[in-house]
Amino acid sequence: MRFLITAGPTREPIDPVRYISNRSSGKMGYAIAEAALAEGHDVTLISGPVTLEAPQKAQLISVSTSDEMFEAVCQHAHHCDICVLCAAVADYKPGAISPTKIKKCGEKFSLELVPTRDILDSLGHKQNRQFILAGFAAETDHVEENAGKKLRAKNCDIIVANDVSSANSGMESDLNEVTILFRNGEKKKIYRAQKKIIGRELVKIFSHFATKTFDKKNGAIN
Ligand code: PMT
Repeated sequence: MRFLITAGPTREPIDPVRYISNRSSGKMGYAIAEAALAEGHDVTLISGPVTLEAPQKAQLISVSTSDEMFEAVCQHAHHCDICVLCAAVADYKPGAISPTKIKKCGEKFSLELVPTRDILDSLGHKQNRQFILAGFAAETDHVEENAGKKLRAKNCDIIVANDVSSANSGMESDLNEVTILFRNGEKKKIYRAQKKIIGRELVKIFSHFATKTFDKKNGAIN
């Protein structure tokens, strides 16, 4: 099967030297990419700025901003069977990018932020979508409930609920613990483990789900 996987953070520029970003290291997305390759799948990895080495056999597309990630995903998604959106895409970006470094003025300073385009939501609402869509939900509270809301609102097939409230699991860490939610209400928990192990489990779950769905619907989803 052909996987498209997004990983890492995005950077939303404020001026030539500053940006808004988050703590995503890319480890979870890269672990899924490695696991998919190990199972013999093709992988397009669309990655925000991270310090990890990309898996050798992946087609790597490096991006920086949410807009660049949006364009890259839209360009490649329709060639894939399974899209896994694991990247921590910024929800907001500065309304305008200053062409010159903003000077310190010693007073309060506010920045106007505008919403970024939501890549998962946009793929989820594509007419006659032919690929399986798996999103992630990074949550610090009411984790499964909030993830379930994202699953329905963004119209994906699967959402991986990821508790990011702990310092030694989730973002940046080598460890993670996730619950996979399906649209029929079914759920599967993967207990705290190395991201590499979780990546392998997720690839098995995604490809099994895809095979079942494609068999049942004969390739047409929605
Ligand atoms: O990179 P690591 O350090 O290994 O950490 C892994 C992780 C915690 C970042 C990862 O497992 C994870 O949870 N990724 C999702 C992070 C996130 O942005 O979650 P969210 O709940 O804010 O977004 C929900 C979904 O919408 C995600 O699939 C996200 O990729 C997508 N999204 C969000 C905003 C946006 N503008 N476009 C999107 O597609």
